[in-house]
Amino acid sequence: MKKLVLPCVIALITISCSPRQAKTASHPKVDSLMRVMTLEEKIGQTVLFTSDWSVTGPSMRDNYLEDIRAGRCGNLLNAYTADFTREIQRIAVEETRLGIPILFGYDVIHGFRTIFPINLGMSASWDIEAIQESARIAASEAAAAGLHWTYSPMCDISVEPRWGRISEGSGEDPYLGSLIAAAMVRGYQGDDLSADHTLLSCVKHFAAYGAPQAGRDYNTVDMSERWLREFYLPPYKAAVDAGALSVMASFNELDGIPAHANAHLMNEILREEWGFQGFVVSDYTGIMEMIHHGYAEDLADAGRLSINAGVDMDMMSSSYMDHMKELVESGKVSMETLDNAVRRILNLKAALGLFEDPYRYCNPEREKARTLTPENKAFARSFAAESMVLLKNSGVLPLRKGEVVAVTGPLAQSKDDFLGSWRGAGQVESVPVSIQEAVGEVTPLSAGASKVILVAGEPWHWTGEAASRSSIRLPEEQTQLLKKLKKEGKTVVLVLLNGRPLDLSEESELADAILEAWYPGTMGGYAVADVLFGDVNPSGKLPVTFPRNLGQVPIYYYAKNTGRPYVHPDAKYESRYLDVPNEPLYAFGHGLSYTTFDYSEIMLEGGHSQSGQGVTLSGDGTLKACVTVTNTGACEGTETVQLYIRDLVGSVTRPVKQLKGFERITLAPGESRIVEFTLDKETLSFWRQDMSWGPESGDFQIFIGGASNQVKKASFKYAL
Ligand code: GLC
Repeated sequence: MKKLVLPCVIALITISCSPRQAKTASHPKVDSLMRVMTLEEKIGQTVLFTSDWSVTGPSMRDNYLEDIRAGRCGNLLNAYTADFTREIQRIAVEETRLGIPILFGYDVIHGFRTIFPINLGMSASWDIEAIQESARIAASEAAAAGLHWTYSPMCDISVEPRWGRISEGSGEDPYLGSLIAAAMVRGYQGDDLSADHTLLSCVKHFAAYGAPQAGRDYNTVDMSERWLREFYLPPYKAAVDAGALSVMASFNELDGIPAHANAHLMNEILREEWGFQGFVVSDYTGIMEMIHHGYAEDLADAGRLSINAGVDMDMMSSSYMDHMKELVESGKVSMETLDNAVRRILNLKAALGLFEDPYRYCNPEREKARTLTPENKAFARSFAAESMVLLKNSGVLPLRKGEVVAVTGPLAQSKDDFLGSWRGAGQVESVPVSIQEAVGEVTPLSAGASKVILVAGEPWHWTGEAASRSSIRLPEEQTQLLKKLKKEGKTVVLVLLNGRPLDLSEESELADAILEAWYPGTMGGYAVADVLFGDVNPSGKLPVTFPRNLGQVPIYYYAKNTGRPYVHPDAKYESRYLDVPNEPLYAFGHGLSYTTFDYSEIMLEGGHSQSGQGVTLSGDGTLKACVTVTNTGACEGTETVQLYIRDLVGSVTRPVKQLKGFERITLAPGESRIVEFTLDKETLSFWRQDMSWGPESGDFQIFIGGASNQVKKASFKYAL
């Protein structure tokens, strides 16, 4: 094939990671390419196929290399290593007419080779800096393996423990989820997308994928616009505001329209309201699936609906490849719409530096040098320990090094489960020890010991995509084993490896201590031992509510008060159950330490006081809420001090609590520290009855404490 060589204008375009999306300039190289590209070549740039290296969806594409050689496919997922991507890139660059480089994407979700805790676990650390660092390390390893683009952060808020993908997100809270989403974008993208250690991030799954009815993956999502905007959209927006430059559409419908053809989401909210300048990619065969949704007549119709709604790239449906030519030639899709999609994609290839050097990311020596380094593994170990949540402790923890213990349970020797789902290129061979081995390196093991570490939970493939469960209990045999051990008079420390909130109502009565370890990643064995034997004092806090049973679901801390709140224990006509309390087993924000913390009453500073009226914050003013936190125990500990507010009366009903701030502090025994939060009108703002965003005058409550149900309370007024 005659190759057309274009002058490569080296022009730097900045992809801003500033809070607001800088308008992505159209790279001069892109403009010159667009002028000479044929219709077929333009369509090829909107096509994304998978390699045959791993399967992340229901179909495969056999002749993807021929598609690339023919210019029918400009983007590839699930291909990595410097050598493999270099060979594929060579085909694109040297054997096609225009030599447009391939964009290589992959699910780098919680690490690439060095695997960190699953995202629900990371979120339990509430350590935003560490979460950002984990994304930076993941990007450095992935970019060294030829990758340009990760399908992360997953920003789906969820209060659905049956849903297997709750493991991939940041839990139930939009405030915490927003901080985490933005941190991951900063970690992946850094401040230069063209650097060989950064990745283009992808905000997914847009939108509200985490609210499937009955917790069944891919199931119907239906909620009010208000609920969507208040509780589900904030993390996506935070990621876009942090500079994310690709977005992935979600499989679900919303308000009867599949996200893959939902112009309200993709154009009105994402582009017009939020100023998003990147491109939108479908999820795996998501465009084709609109036929099953009963929204598209056939594959051509699905493609028309999608691209006209703002979906620029087709992952694995072949709709754009097979039908876009006829759609454009028939006028069902305008040339401008296609050009916009192509330009958005080529702009990001330019921003990644691929036109200057298509092989920039394909360096085997750098790949080897950057992967699974001692520093990466050391960070993974400390981060895993920080993600763990001590749910219960009768005093048996920390264990003493050298004391005789037994380690048992179905996951005691597992390494594979540490990696969880979406484990990237993580390999079990890279996991140094199981929990049993790690404990054995610290203390004698004896099957007959009176203290038993019972390692239980869910096998890793019980969570992740297409892994919803109708029960959230542990496998019955595990509960029976715990009962047997207790009947034998053992002291039992239950260590859980799992990816969702579980119904631990029986286990919480039987076990002497419960450590929620999630799927803790490559260094998980050592991290569990570090916590059990006190080298690390646990500091994790639940990012999601643990119910007493499935009957309470959905249950979340930002509940509404209802017209008949349950306040009188024996009352009948109040919102309650006959068989269980309304409160969860473990509340949002719950997590114990090996020390204890005392909170002073809340002091309010600022605003103005009137005799008998309390403190009033007005207009654009600020109000400081302070508490003194004291470590009243015998060892150093880290506490996440949480700030919640309640708007007592609004033009729409308001939650009984909403997280609006938190601060992680580390205190030595006996040490006290004043923790100060600043509130302003933005803190108090919400989607008012007329769907405008802003505060309303009235009475407010402030709650500060170490968990959503362990708080000090104060009140103030706000006056517009
Ligand atoms: C999957 C997932 C999505 C992932 C994509 C590519 O179906 O829904 O999260 O990024 O396909 O693997």
